[in-house]
Amino acid sequence: MSNVLTGIKPTGMPHLGNYLSVIKPAIERVNGWGVERNENFFFIADYHALTSVKKRIELKDNIRMVAATWLASGLMTNGNDNTNFYVQSDVPEIFQLSWILSCYTPKGFLNRAHAYKSAVDKNLEVDKDEDQGIDAGLYNYPVLMAADILLFKADQVPVGLDQIQHIEIARDIAQRFNHRHKKALHLPKAEIIEGVETILGLDGRKMSKSYDNTIPLCCSEKKLKKLIKGIPTDSADRNAPKSTEDSLVCHYFKHFGSPSEVFNFELELKDGMAWGDAKEKLFQLMNTKLAPIRDEFDWYMNNTGRIDQILEGGRDKVRRIAKNNMEEILNKM
Ligand code: TRP
Repeated sequence: MSNVLTGIKPTGMPHLGNYLSVIKPAIERVNGWGVERNENFFFIADYHALTSVKKRIELKDNIRMVAATWLASGLMTNGNDNTNFYVQSDVPEIFQLSWILSCYTPKGFLNRAHAYKSAVDKNLEVDKDEDQGIDAGLYNYPVLMAADILLFKADQVPVGLDQIQHIEIARDIAQRFNHRHKKALHLPKAEIIEGVETILGLDGRKMSKSYDNTIPLCCSEKKLKKLIKGIPTDSADRNAPKSTEDSLVCHYFKHFGSPSEVFNFELELKDGMAWGDAKEKLFQLMNTKLAPIRDEFDWYMNNTGRIDQILEGGRDKVRRIAKNNMEEILNKM
């Protein structure tokens, strides 16, 4: 029996990177599990999003979009009751634990966190005060994340590569806590899902909302087509053999095609298929795969009452575990 936990920050419409590196592998595992009983904790990290989203309506909307994405991708369809699906802010015990943990967290851990460091570096580059515009929420972000993870005794935390440091900080905090209070906290492991690489954005950097280079998972067919048409390619002649390495078109194709489809696609490119034709093939493939998810997503977004109902059920279920675990931790302190 092991606990799997992961969260997504609701900062906008979930994109292909979120889907391919977190949601899809997480759901495949859940639905593929046999007798082994695991307890899953998949949640929407809305208070982490507060570091950047300050508008109530925008946040609420984002929460529903992330929830609809998980649901449309097949969460909760395996008929098992071992999946907890909830919104972080519905679980006050997380924030209680977050404060407690902060009293065991050396400030140096947080000084070294990538997100904070890069915000400081940006300020220094333009000769500003190093902490200009940086709020304590961004600084304490890793402590809240440690609370998310440690409260539910997570064993595995499947995340993208950029989140590994956060899991390491959570482990370090747990170890310091346990040094004082024997075995009070369970140590998590980060888990990079096998075969999952960083998903690249339309400019070749990591796909991220902050780089404005994303392909939304559930956009209209028309928009998907437009985005794919705009993928930058090398300027090889129309009929010249194309290089498939370092090609973004191939990068995306690989994530949707079967091995033989990918093989044939790359062969055609090497034989001189024009980039325009390759993009059309990529569009057809992605559109076929994404259409069912998009339809479900749209259904949920037209029936937000259903989303809210599912999340309320998730809250009630997970809070029983949260209360229980919090009591255990307090007893050990
Ligand atoms: N920080 C994660 C991200 O930006 C989201 C997150 C919050 C998370 N709490 C978590 C992920 C706990 C895994 C476990 O992607």
